[in-house]
Amino acid sequence: MSDIYYNYKGTLFSPVATSAEDLSFVENEFQVLDDDIFNITYPKSGTSWMIEILSLILKNGDPTWIKTVPNWERAPWLEIVGCAKNLQLSKERPRLITSHLPRHIFTKTFEGSNAKVIYTIRDPKDTAVSLYYFSKMYVCYKDPNSIDDFLKDYLVGNLSRGSWFSHVKGWMKLMGQDNFMFHTYEDLQKDLRGSVMKICKFLGKELDDKAVDSVVANVSFENMKENNMSNFTRLPNHFMDLDKSPFMRKGIVGDWKNHFTVAQNEYFDKIYKAEMQDFPVKFPWDE
Ligand code: A3P
Repeated sequence: MSDIYYNYKGTLFSPVATSAEDLSFVENEFQVLDDDIFNITYPKSGTSWMIEILSLILKNGDPTWIKTVPNWERAPWLEIVGCAKNLQLSKERPRLITSHLPRHIFTKTFEGSNAKVIYTIRDPKDTAVSLYYFSKMYVCYKDPNSIDDFLKDYLVGNLSRGSWFSHVKGWMKLMGQDNFMFHTYEDLQKDLRGSVMKICKFLGKELDDKAVDSVVANVSFENMKENNMSNFTRLPNHFMDLDKSPFMRKGIVGDWKNHFTVAQNEYFDKIYKAEMQDFPVKFPWDE
């Protein structure tokens, strides 16, 4: 384990981003409300894309909110230092809440509530590439020397928020519950409008065609890259060094093919197969 992280119940976290006390508060004391909407992801799976989509759906397609309020205030990260306590005081309803927490340490009061979870999953190879670049520019993550070194940590979960495999397997246990919906980053790429409509249905929101058009247009990669409430350019450079890599980097499917060697790809496939062979759901990248 790297000394930039500490271990909370088997998962690594950066002390710059969150303390064990914050995590314990989230896990044991945070009060989930029935109308809460949780945007849950493993890091770099499309979290900020989903914040943008949900923000616009909640405002019936009106872009004022996404153009005037940073995404971390619209949908705060539950486990980041102080956020859960602030959320507890928030009068905003419904609360839009983001989290990268694995299921086993998620807040206990979620159990039995009607709060809704939207879980976005991305091809773990593209997630790895995105996370590799992000780790080079984000102060809270260990800077990987090379993709090779990074993959060794990634594939065993020796990094912030732990393993992609246990994250996905943990959250997907909720499959079949009325208040749980999952989809993939690849679904969003393939049919953004259809995905937005599915999310509206899940949330019980009825948007007319014009409102859906506005959601779709405003969440394009190009528009989000230009929106300084969503592209993280408002954060200080020592926290996220966007000169090393922009947050809105490429936004494509299959970038791993530009990065992995044949040997790295074979190594990845071997571990993926061992971890996921009995998994009941097949994802777009499994085909
Ligand atoms: P890349 O690094 O592959 O470009 P997260 O928000 O979970 O941190 O994920 C960030 C990743 O999602 C980045 O991937 C980013 O470019 C991509 N992303 C964000 N908004 C997007 C959008 N509107 N369309 C496509 N990809 C988007």
